Amino acid sequence: MALLEIDNLSVTFDGEDGPVHAVNDLSLSIDRGQTLGIVGESGSGKSQTAFAVMGLLAPNGRTSGSVRFDGQEILGIGHKGMNQLRARRIAMIFQDPMTSLNPYMRISDQMAEVLTLHKGMSKRDAVAESVRMLDAVRIPAASERIRLYPHEFSGGMRQRVMIAMSLLCRPDLLIADEPTTALDVTVQAQIMELLNDLQREFGMATVLITHDLGVVAGFCERVVVMYGGRVMEKAPVDPLFAQPTHPYTRGLLGAVPRVDDEDAIMTAIPGNPPNMAGAPEGCPFRPRCAYAALDCSVMPPLVSFDGDRARACHRPIAEVAA
Ligand SMILES: Nc1ncnc2c1ncn2[C@@H]1O[C@H](COP(=O)(O)OP(=O)(O)OP(=O)(O)O)[C@@H](O)[C@H]1O
Ligand SMILES: [Mg+2]
Repeated sequence: MALLEIDNLSVTFDGEDGPVHAVNDLSLSIDRGQTLGIVGESGSGKSQTAFAVMGLLAPNGRTSGSVRFDGQEILGIGHKGMNQLRARRIAMIFQDPMTSLNPYMRISDQMAEVLTLHKGMSKRDAVAESVRMLDAVRIPAASERIRLYPHEFSGGMRQRVMIAMSLLCRPDLLIADEPTTALDVTVQAQIMELLNDLQREFGMATVLITHDLGVVAGFCERVVVMYGGRVMEKAPVDPLFAQPTHPYTRGLLGAVPRVDDEDAIMTAIPGNPPNMAGAPEGCPFRPRCAYAALDCSVMPPLVSFDGDRARACHRPIAEVAA
């Protein structure tokens, strides 16, 4: 049984000009200990997918479909049920650590609170365990620095604190939503390396949300490519990079700067990501797709092939992947 199984998830927001279809009919699953990347440009529905799973959607958001965690339906289970799962079994790290850290509380109190609240530990044990976790994320002199306030840490160190905090209850599933985009490039690489090490050490299943396929290549076993709130392509990482079969994935890969080959042309995908207001009709990538034809006004189904791959495109693989 998959650890997390999402079936036909849709997220719709009540917008001023009608409904916004942020996520449409999305299905994916992740097993224990696996790493899954969700990739796509800004506005493709990555974060709202994660928020729907975590029960953290904005009040104007509605969901349909199914999200099962460890066999249990968790979509719409309400605050109480979700609070029990959050932190203890499912944890999430956000792009900007300051949104999740309380600026007026010492790190020691914030971290210890997680353990006293969720694990019933004494304050003293909770602080000791928090220091161990700060050590694990390689914060130097953790036993002293745990007494500091969030603003006394650098951005990279704060993100380390957030990661330590998310791992305190040893979750089975970690959702990391653009965990490094707020950081400079060198620190980004360090944080990704750290996440990689911790994922192996703790063995938690990890969903990494990013717009950066390069980051996915270094971290994930499988990838889901999203566009316009829909899954365009799903595949294990290596075959996806070797042979992307969806025009959008090909576009994304073309847009990745090539470090190995200076002469390689960096092709960006022309046009802008879609406006998600209005009814979703046809393939959302159609207006920017070089392969688009009349039949694309009907959304193609996500069709499996090669065992563990799937794509949603009317054009034959041979035509697109040539
Ligand atoms: N509360 C809301 N009300 C209306 N629309 C919303 C709301 N929250 C998000 N959206 C819309 O949902 C769509 C998907 O947003 P989402 O945050 O999932 O994008 P994303 O893929 O995470 O993008 P990014 O890479 O920029 O983080 C966007 O069009 C966004 O404007
Ligand atoms: Mg996002």
